[in-house]
Amino acid sequence: MRFALNVDHIATLRNARGEVQPDPVYAALLAEQAGVDGIVVHLREDRRHINERDVRLLRELITTKLDLEMAATEEIIKIACDVGPELATIVPERRQELTTEGGINVIDNYNLLKETIKELHKYEIEVSLFIEPEIEQIETSAELESDFIEIHTGKFANSLSEEEQFDELERIRLASRQAKKLGLGVNAGHGLNYQNIKLFRELPDIDEVSIGQAVIARAVFVGIPEAVKEMIRLLKTD
Ligand code: PXP
Repeated sequence: MRFALNVDHIATLRNARGEVQPDPVYAALLAEQAGVDGIVVHLREDRRHINERDVRLLRELITTKLDLEMAATEEIIKIACDVGPELATIVPERRQELTTEGGINVIDNYNLLKETIKELHKYEIEVSLFIEPEIEQIETSAELESDFIEIHTGKFANSLSEEEQFDELERIRLASRQAKKLGLGVNAGHGLNYQNIKLFRELPDIDEVSIGQAVIARAVFVGIPEAVKEMIRLLKTD
């Protein structure tokens, strides 16, 4: 299972005091040296953490893969096409939310997503749709000619009982299997951490996990390279 690190929260800390440190670009370079397979950033409409300078510098400097999380708005699509990340992950975005709260409904947003995917493909940017692990959402994502889906793992991560966690894992297992059958690449993320990844890593059809909070929080105490290596050890060893 590949591991892409989301460095948004390094920028959250920087912006808390309007300083230039800590720099999410430096964090991304350290993470690459420690072995991550990709860097994820979410350029939000309100620029609460990552800004355009970060995205453009990351594009120039990182050597793995840039996954730009974004809402399907005219302004951000234009920036994405100009910057050219390897992957654009389309997420729903609400100004008041603390973090992305769930997947985008690809059935309700069909026409908007069709246009967005067409535009990004023109610039040879692959597209991923952040969705709930539901079969109709997956089938519609394939119909929209998305390249990847990213399964929202928030419900799995926030389960209050083992039973609930097991049920949600099963839902993700079936959804990811169906996505693979339809030829989609399968990413997953939200709320994954050093504990729940031990169950999650057993899923055979997940290509990549996107993790931010848990690894950045750990990095505050042990540093980015060590926090990254600890996660890689969990993901890549039996
Ligand atoms: N994937 C998506 C689409 C997200 O919005 C986020 C949160 O920024 C993540 C993955 C990572 O979630 P977490 O920070 O909880 O690891």
